[in-house]
Amino acid sequence: MTTFLVRARVLDTPDDPGAGGGLRSDDDCGLLVVDGVITARAAYAEVRAAHPDVHAVDLREGVLLPGLVDTHVHYPQVRAIGALGMPLLEWLERCALPEECRLADTAYATAVAEEFVFGLVSAGTTTALVFGSHFASAVDALFTEAERVGLRVTCGLVVSDRELPTDLLTTPERALAESLALASRWHGRGRLRYAVTPRFSLSAGDEVLAACATAHHEVTGSWFTSHVNENPAEVAYVAELFPARAHYVDTYDAHGLVGPRSVLAHNVHPTDDELRVLASRGASIANCPTSNAALGSGLFSQRRHDDFGVRVALGSDVGAGTGFSLFKEGLQAYFHQRLLGPDGVPLSPADLLHLATRAGALALGLADEVGDLSVGKQFDAVLVRPHADDPLDVCLRHAASPDDALAKIFALGGDSDVAGVWVGGTRVKG
Ligand code: GUN
Ligand code: ZN
Repeated sequence: MTTFLVRARVLDTPDDPGAGGGLRSDDDCGLLVVDGVITARAAYAEVRAAHPDVHAVDLREGVLLPGLVDTHVHYPQVRAIGALGMPLLEWLERCALPEECRLADTAYATAVAEEFVFGLVSAGTTTALVFGSHFASAVDALFTEAERVGLRVTCGLVVSDRELPTDLLTTPERALAESLALASRWHGRGRLRYAVTPRFSLSAGDEVLAACATAHHEVTGSWFTSHVNENPAEVAYVAELFPARAHYVDTYDAHGLVGPRSVLAHNVHPTDDELRVLASRGASIANCPTSNAALGSGLFSQRRHDDFGVRVALGSDVGAGTGFSLFKEGLQAYFHQRLLGPDGVPLSPADLLHLATRAGALALGLADEVGDLSVGKQFDAVLVRPHADDPLDVCLRHAASPDDALAKIFALGGDSDVAGVWVGGTRVKG
């Protein structure tokens, strides 16, 4: 049995700030961690008195947050980050898809998988719903690396049968066979799970979507992820390709793919009917603010999702998104709501932390295990400790309140401020 006691300044959001909860702040908190699980949480002196002999780790020089949860991030696109100036379909054709073709080479894919997992850990992301590769061997490479490092990763084979470079296309039969084979190797193994992943219905016709539905049904507890309503040209083309469907969400819903274990990325241009369907199915949306800005996709309406009761979490959408940091995504989410003026939702620092942690855990069905630092949860945590006299260090020392400190972390925090990362009690960075 491995037991240690953490002494830290802890910020987390166990209750949704949008639903009356707020920031939980404990200045001198003691967390007893036994075999990776938090078994006691109280004032440090109290936990210490009850466990006088346990090894203590003093993290008071920084701020301890729950591990960050990224609900939409593309593994094969690490090397494509930062291509600016193109809308979605042109960016896919010129930038993302040529790079994704290179993952046919398993050695290349293995190198990219290592860079990708390193990118997640560096940013303090401990749990991710990862958009995989079109090549099964490359998906194996990603799961292998995620397992080696110990991250909580849900991922799957990306499948498509039209509109993409030929190398990225498959058939419904092959899509199903390869998906089931991958799931049999990885789903439910340690911290890994399988996600059925048609790229988007623009590139996945009804036969492939039906194969996805079969895989989702056969792999108990699998997740479903794809893209939806990202860009007006994409939305118009999907409507042309699916004349019998009521709307974009219906292209998935008609196959039974939209439910509480579904996460659809973007949804920048939804109709009211689509929001109603998403809410009634209990599906989640991954809001990807830096990607939406970089590709000029538009401003995500948090208010309409809230009004219809659609669950929202945060995604970095690397590589259309401009990096792995969910602090940056949170800040951009805040900016976008500001830019919407009266139609925007004023996101508080606690809202941003909730979006980057517990909301993601809820979207991924992992809220009983991760997303906050309560008793019974895994010790998945991020220590934010800037270098002495960096602007964030200065700002944290002069923060007027815990909410103010958190605002400064989202405004100024980056990978170099992530001084430690733990997953299930094991330190994976720092
Ligand atoms: N839609 C289909 N594929 C992609 C992708 O790789 N990135 C984004 N942002 N949208 C997509
Ligand atoms: Zn994406």
